[in-house]
Amino acid sequence: MTVPLPEMTSPPPRTTVPLPDFPAGFVWGVSTSAYQIEGATSQDGRGASIWDRFAHTPGTVVDGSTGDTACDHYHRYAEDVALLAGLGVDAYRFSVAWPRIQPDGTGQANSDGLAFYDRLVDSLLARGVDPVATLFHWDLPQALEDKGGWLARDTAGRFADYAALVAGRLGDRVALWLTLNEPFVHMSYGYGLGTHAPGQTRFFDAFPVAHHQLLGHGLAVAALRAATGGPVGITNNYSPVRVLGDTDADHLARAAYHALHNRLFTDPLLGRGYPEIPGADATVVHPGDLDTIAAPIDVLGVNYYNPTGVRAPSDPDSPLPFDLVPLDGYPTTSFGWPVDPEGLRELLTGLRAEYGDRLPPIQITEGGCSYDDTIDEQGRCHDPERVAYLDGHLRALHRAIVDGVDVRGYYVWSLLDNFEWAEGYTKRFGLVHVDFDTQVRTPKTSYGWYRDQIAATGTLE
Ligand code: BGC
Ligand code: BGC
Ligand code: BGC
Repeated sequence: MTVPLPEMTSPPPRTTVPLPDFPAGFVWGVSTSAYQIEGATSQDGRGASIWDRFAHTPGTVVDGSTGDTACDHYHRYAEDVALLAGLGVDAYRFSVAWPRIQPDGTGQANSDGLAFYDRLVDSLLARGVDPVATLFHWDLPQALEDKGGWLARDTAGRFADYAALVAGRLGDRVALWLTLNEPFVHMSYGYGLGTHAPGQTRFFDAFPVAHHQLLGHGLAVAALRAATGGPVGITNNYSPVRVLGDTDADHLARAAYHALHNRLFTDPLLGRGYPEIPGADATVVHPGDLDTIAAPIDVLGVNYYNPTGVRAPSDPDSPLPFDLVPLDGYPTTSFGWPVDPEGLRELLTGLRAEYGDRLPPIQITEGGCSYDDTIDEQGRCHDPERVAYLDGHLRALHRAIVDGVDVRGYYVWSLLDNFEWAEGYTKRFGLVHVDFDTQVRTPKTSYGWYRDQIAATGTLE
């Protein structure tokens, strides 16, 4: 099938100063995830996921929408691969929907599910784009949730079985495997605060979800090593913590939030065991688990969006040892998230300082921003704020590399505007605008900017 390269209709950015040179072999990419783009949620034997169940529950998603159709990528993947080829990216990070592979989360693979990713991977390779596969981006089979989800230890073993099935089929062609996407967000929003699927509000009683995800990661690393020679990693999200206030209680709040967001999923991965988490039920950690979790990885995926402001809880009965507070003095995205490129450098140099030689090479597996992008009368989509956001963050990243942090790639979130979880279709993160009524894709100004930067960026030898 031939698909024409996308026509670049959006205006060019005002001239920007070319980016500095990045290390030889630096990977330029973009990211997406299955539930956010694929649609076709009941086609070809796909089972239900917790996100199907959650989004179909009234009151969970701000605009009442679901991922039933999303970007219809399941049917339009060839057009989307052409968009990737037009960008000139080295790599495309997508996620595999577990319920397409195992509709009930266990047992034999659904061959139609595997066939979809097989076609996707082959069409990427035909266009010279390396496939980077995330195995879990929050869409747990509902049947496993009914048996306890990530609160149940058994889910870790099921995850490793699923990883083996996918690697058995795609292991000869995937350039990088990432086990989990942002287990912190899945634990805290999904099982702690209830704003994401599966919608549970357990606060610190969600700790088993952290441990079982990490155990699943470790078991999946072993399964992937057995099935493929490809490099293996995990994606965490990190946020530098800014404390507002200067009391001892404020500093304790900072340390507590830092432990939860930045250390809980990294200390054990890098062989240090868990940080102190008050209220965490340590009995879920069995002998040998920490060794399984600390299996060597080739890449640490780092997602960065924004720093987080905290101070001591104002309510002494608060279930959390900190209050999250807005950070003043930064421009914000349409999500209200503060834009702080220096935070990226800070977190990278912080990881290096904290973990030293234990730190594997890093790839920035997500970075990006949402703005209220619209199509103008000429049919164009001009998003200068996104160009500025990416430009600033790539320069900050470059400074971190010059500071000695081993960072080998950057993936923009996202290729397409898509289903932004609890925000539905109200937040647009794409380099490509999607009209969700017609599925028309329009490359934004930022798409042309990123394409030109990738083409122009030299390499440091
Ligand atoms: C950040 C979190 C923050 C949340 C809400 C996420 O992108 O990573 O640190 O608490 O947004 O602002
Ligand atoms: C997630 C994406 C999400 C993005 C923007 C990341 O936390 O991995 O799925 O769309 O943030 O919120
Ligand atoms: C948003 C999610 C997002 C998460 C992590 C939340 O505030 O509702 O859509 O994925 O932050 O960045």
